[in-house]
Amino acid sequence: MAKIHPLSDVQSENIGEDTMIWQYCVVLKNAVIGDNCNINCQVFIENDVKIGNNVTIKPGVQIWDGITLEDNVFIGPNVTFTNDLMPRSKQKDWVCLKTIVKRGASIGANATILPGLIIGENAMIGAGSVVINNVPANTLWVGNPAKQIKQIK
Ligand SMILES: CC(C)(COP(=O)(O)OP(=O)(O)OC[C@H]1O[C@@H](n2cnc3c(N)ncnc32)[C@H](O)[C@@H]1OP(=O)(O)O)[C@@H](O)C(=O)NCCC(=O)NCCS
Repeated sequence: MAKIHPLSDVQSENIGEDTMIWQYCVVLKNAVIGDNCNINCQVFIENDVKIGNNVTIKPGVQIWDGITLEDNVFIGPNVTFTNDLMPRSKQKDWVCLKTIVKRGASIGANATILPGLIIGENAMIGAGSVVINNVPANTLWVGNPAKQIKQIK
């Protein structure tokens, strides 16, 4: 059974075994979250979101529509995802671009991920990076705009 803190607002019933959701999180109704995840305080999870098993999301993160986090992904504090490349207030016909963070990847604190990207398996994104390109598996990227600095195991 999931452990959902009473001070959170979790509308989805698709939350896996042993997943913990802490204070002041909001999880909308169609979000799907797997087993053994740790969703720290003050995380917002929208509807068209899939989160695998053993995922950690640190505080202050928003997982918008179109975002998938595969198994064993780590999302650092205050990481920012995006799903609209050219946002305009009240524009109704905007295009929602999908982002996938593949199995085992980690994103450092306060990194920003531009919309429509794939962060490859076991990739690592340094703290504060601004990612504007797809990131291949097993690579480390840092900076703004983020560049690959090495291969990692
Ligand atoms: C990127 C990171 C993993 C370090 O990797 P590393 O292999 O030990 O790299 P190094 O410290 O040897 O640095 C390699 C180069 O990248 C630079 N660098 C390291 N981290 C960086 C970052 N976040 N942003 C920009 N440049 C960075 C270093 O200055 C160095 O540059 P140089 O070769 O020109 O001197 C680490 O710095 C990082 O950002 N970790 C994420 C921490 C985090 O957010 N944790 C969240 C949980 S609290």
